[in-house]
Amino acid sequence: MGTKTSLVTGVAGFLGSHVARHLIHGGHRVVGIDDLSGGFIENVPEGVDFRPGSINDDTFVRGTFSEGIDYVFHLAAYAAEGLSHYIRVFNYTNNVIGSMNLVNAAIRNSVRRFVFTSSIAVYGAGQLPMKEGMEPSPEDPYGIAKYAVELDLRAAREQFGLDFTVFRPHNVYGENQNIGDRYRNVVGIFMNQIMHDEPMTVFGDGTQTRAFSYVDDVAPVLADSINHESASGRTFNVGADTPYSVLRLASVVAQTMGVEPKIQHLPARKEVEHAFSDHTASKEVFGARETVPLEVGISRMAKWAKRVGPRQSNPFTGIEVRKNFPMGWDLEMDSGS
Ligand SMILES: NC(=O)c1ccc[n+]([C@@H]2O[C@H](COP(=O)([O-])OP(=O)(O)OC[C@H]3O[C@@H](n4cnc5c(N)ncnc54)[C@H](O)[C@@H]3O)[C@@H](O)[C@H]2O)c1
Repeated sequence: MGTKTSLVTGVAGFLGSHVARHLIHGGHRVVGIDDLSGGFIENVPEGVDFRPGSINDDTFVRGTFSEGIDYVFHLAAYAAEGLSHYIRVFNYTNNVIGSMNLVNAAIRNSVRRFVFTSSIAVYGAGQLPMKEGMEPSPEDPYGIAKYAVELDLRAAREQFGLDFTVFRPHNVYGENQNIGDRYRNVVGIFMNQIMHDEPMTVFGDGTQTRAFSYVDDVAPVLADSINHESASGRTFNVGADTPYSVLRLASVVAQTMGVEPKIQHLPARKEVEHAFSDHTASKEVFGARETVPLEVGISRMAKWAKRVGPRQSNPFTGIEVRKNFPMGWDLEMDSGS
């Protein structure tokens, strides 16, 4: 069999850049697309055939598929879950309509498998740990968009035989992450605030927990998934098992960055208090891997963050609804050097 060609959407983003790197190491030809709305050109790994453009542009998407795509790894999205309440139209356009341009093209071009990066946001505040067999009940437009795409992929498989694998990662952190987005990526936000000599901002008392996952616990599994026949048509949680409170995370980040932890508490926002998921299914199909301990992953990311330096954190300019907008997000969070 000749070289496989994989399309990676969101290739200039955090997870997309790592997935693309693993695919290239695995001998794939990688065509990567990104509109650079949340990613950085310097994240695109060497060897990727990079096409700047939006998945919302159907003509662009059709053109990208015209030269033969075997596998699709769809990671492009605006993943600011909390902000999604205030940017419904933007959220559904980017995260659902854009995805449908890709699903249509994948069906027309008979791609071998469509790997979709969903999120544990589809579960909502259900039972813990979150398991794939549970009935999803997303509580925000971001989670609803992800679940809509999951359901659509099932329908496309039924109707057209489009093969898919869905992953539901959670709280991934590591090198190449956008640390300058005030609305998401808490590890990156803390590192950016420390580099700006500002306190780390914590919504509520900081006892909310998340199972922060280093990127190496997630990206290689996604890239390798197409080699597993038993992953066909299935959905998997993926990531680390151990939940940590946001306060504990803040203390690890501060210690690793070599500063005293300074914390500014902001009013609590509406969010799921505890979130961690069960990874039995993904370990069964893809093999059990040692996960990277929090201190180790944070230290690798901190080295990278210090090298790239602080980033400006600008407010999102297209807020559609201001009602009940979380207070902390209105603050000027960066000194704006
Ligand atoms: N990082 C996490 O913790 C996490 C957890 C669960 C799910 N996910 C999902 O994984 C995927 C990757 O997330 P990430 O953390 O790497 O985010 P990211 O913002 O770093 O990467 C997303 C990339 O998509 C690009 N993009 C956005 N809209 C686009 C469009 N319309 N057309 C083309 N490119 C577009 C952005 O420029 C960015 O480079 C997303 O689908 C996200 O929902 C991430």
